[in-house]
Amino acid sequence: MTFLLIILSFVLICMIFIIWCHYRFPEPHWNWDEIDLKETKFPKKFMWGTATAAHQVEGNCNNNNWFEWENSKDDLGNPRIKDNQRSGKACDHWNRYEEDIKMILELGVSHYRFSIEWSKVEPKKGYYDRKVINHYSNVIDKLLENNITPVITLHHFTNPTWFDNLGGFEREQNISIFVRFCEKIFDEYSSRVNLWCTINEPEVYSMMGYFVGVFPPGQKNPNQAVNVLKNLLVAHTAVYTKLKSLKNGEKSKIGIVKNVMQFDPYRRWNLLDWIVCILTNNIYNGIALSYLKTGKINIRIPFFININYSNPLAAKKTDFFGLNYYSHSHLKFKANLNEFFDNKFFATDTMTDMPYVIYPEGLYRAIKDVESIGKPIIITENGIADAKDDRRALFIERYLYSVYRAIREGTNIKGYFYWSLMDNFEWAEGYDMKFGLYEVNFKNQKRKLRNGAKEFIKVIKKSG
Ligand code: BGC
Repeated sequence: MTFLLIILSFVLICMIFIIWCHYRFPEPHWNWDEIDLKETKFPKKFMWGTATAAHQVEGNCNNNNWFEWENSKDDLGNPRIKDNQRSGKACDHWNRYEEDIKMILELGVSHYRFSIEWSKVEPKKGYYDRKVINHYSNVIDKLLENNITPVITLHHFTNPTWFDNLGGFEREQNISIFVRFCEKIFDEYSSRVNLWCTINEPEVYSMMGYFVGVFPPGQKNPNQAVNVLKNLLVAHTAVYTKLKSLKNGEKSKIGIVKNVMQFDPYRRWNLLDWIVCILTNNIYNGIALSYLKTGKINIRIPFFININYSNPLAAKKTDFFGLNYYSHSHLKFKANLNEFFDNKFFATDTMTDMPYVIYPEGLYRAIKDVESIGKPIIITENGIADAKDDRRALFIERYLYSVYRAIREGTNIKGYFYWSLMDNFEWAEGYDMKFGLYEVNFKNQKRKLRNGAKEFIKVIKKSG
């Protein structure tokens, strides 16, 4: 009898928990037939932009962790990058930036977000290459000459090899080395550049590199993944505080860039699916959001993760929240200690070429979630891999509608940057994923505006 009562109580508690989750974490799907997309409009001073990252477009990044990674093999002798591709010459943006700036102009955008390749600026610890510093200075001048506002990302996934040899962001002591590089860059360009992104997607860098293992250094160690994530967040605060204290610091807007992806249960009435989703959301999104709100990180999953960090002074240390958004994921619990969920899709999902479903409602959800930090939001990345270019226009139309809807409701969103200006080296996927507004022919480096990109140009024009 008692046993039966215990079982019944347990079942009841589980059911209450599932019902609570169901209402607490809804997964909205709008009826797009009832939405008038012509309503979409944006404020006059809205920042319109497009984005790239050095390693993905410049070419000849031969001195960083990704170069090493692309040229190594896993334990079974398999290449790290799909079909053994290498970033190599990439889009040759290093030499063709003037032509590329003309393309940026043709889009009608006002801003260009790009990253500085640390391994080129500081090829050896403490030695800065003047030619490289001058190169980025010329890029900045060319943008300004064309009335395009430069937005600099200080760290976008790549580290100089020498920095990784010192333990990279696995060691909190190494943060000061990164801060010193950022100080140098800020000192060089801050009289002409006002918008700064400190670190791009700390959760992607740490989870892909230390948990999933498909980015360098290819580890599968949850505790190390969270430790690296913690160090990157701490590095953001250290860079922010340092740059703010320098000349031009006060007038500059300096922010972190975070990828938000929601993890929704594949079966909304399954307790185990909810548990994996709540845990994954907490690690992937919750840690960074809690750190930015309170300066605290406290996560303990017995036998897997135990990280406790507190620095209340770090709270709110960002002038804006750079939001990168692509999609959400549906997780299905799997009884396997190495991989405790599967990423599932529904037959009704409209897919992109990446394993991402088109889900514009998710961008709206993400905006509402990060609004709680209380900082202006800039959508620093959003885009679609679509080689056939048959979904890009719809993607742009609908995701921009989500941004508009949040603005209409009063959310402080300052800008939107499409990822990416042109096709480029998509990390572990090599060159197969076509995110570009411009198609790139990698044999002859010819660029061509994609039809789908015209939707972006249209909305920008309409906003004046
Ligand atoms: C990264 C980009 C990447 C894009 C598309 C973002 O996570 O910042 O470097 O190319 O996603 O996958």
